[in-house]
Amino acid sequence: MQHIPIEKRIIFALDVNTKEEVEKWLNRLGSYIKFYKVGLELFVSLGFEVVDMISDRGFEVMLDLKLYDIPKTVERTVKQIRKRRVSFLTVHGNYDILRAAVDGAGDSNLKILGVTVLTSFDEKDLKELGYNVAVEELVLNRARLTYRAGCAGVVASAHEAKLIKSKIPDLTIVTPGIRVEVSKKQDQKRVMTPPKAIEMGSDYLVIGRAIRDSDEPEVVTEKIISEIKYSLKK
Ligand code: C5P
Repeated sequence: MQHIPIEKRIIFALDVNTKEEVEKWLNRLGSYIKFYKVGLELFVSLGFEVVDMISDRGFEVMLDLKLYDIPKTVERTVKQIRKRRVSFLTVHGNYDILRAAVDGAGDSNLKILGVTVLTSFDEKDLKELGYNVAVEELVLNRARLTYRAGCAGVVASAHEAKLIKSKIPDLTIVTPGIRVEVSKKQDQKRVMTPPKAIEMGSDYLVIGRAIRDSDEPEVVTEKIISEIKYSLKK
């Protein structure tokens, strides 16, 4: 089992679009959180410059681009990304696409995470897309594919973390959809609190709005970290 330092258990979602805002959040949270997620909004706004801004401070970067394309295109794209200081990259897709991403990363430090089912989806959303399966079944199926393709981990909700850990203990689980109060779901559907998610087997928690929109982000962050520590000791 890999050791994950407590200050890297939370991956803060930098869902902003300017350098100033990135600076602001790194300044405010940098002493508590050492892992940051760059998603589509920020990446299309600032490109790799923002990856450099974060890693120059010694923090790790999760690049959440959710790549989904034919295998060769994914492989070639990942070959470019691996030249930069990115720790986690998210990829969607079947075995061939995930395998192409793993091949693209080669022996670099870049770890590929397979997206299972978005935490904003529930069974109704899956049906709309033509999947007549339970969320859990689809998540486990995709987690197995991800593992077989040689990826380091999956992005999955905490609701499926326990099941994934029980079947594939080696797979790292990165979990978004974290809420301090589960009643505040916003656009997420499969949400959970930080301590509960850790108890269920999530290794890293992606947290955005629960910290960003609070009146006291530092206080909330400290509280979440102490709750995570407590859950890890159980
Ligand atoms: O604000 P909130 O904590 O809901 O942010 C969650 C972040 O995690 C967002 O940046 C979203 O893009 C991302 N994410 C997600 N579900 C996934 C993968 C990534 O919510 N399956």
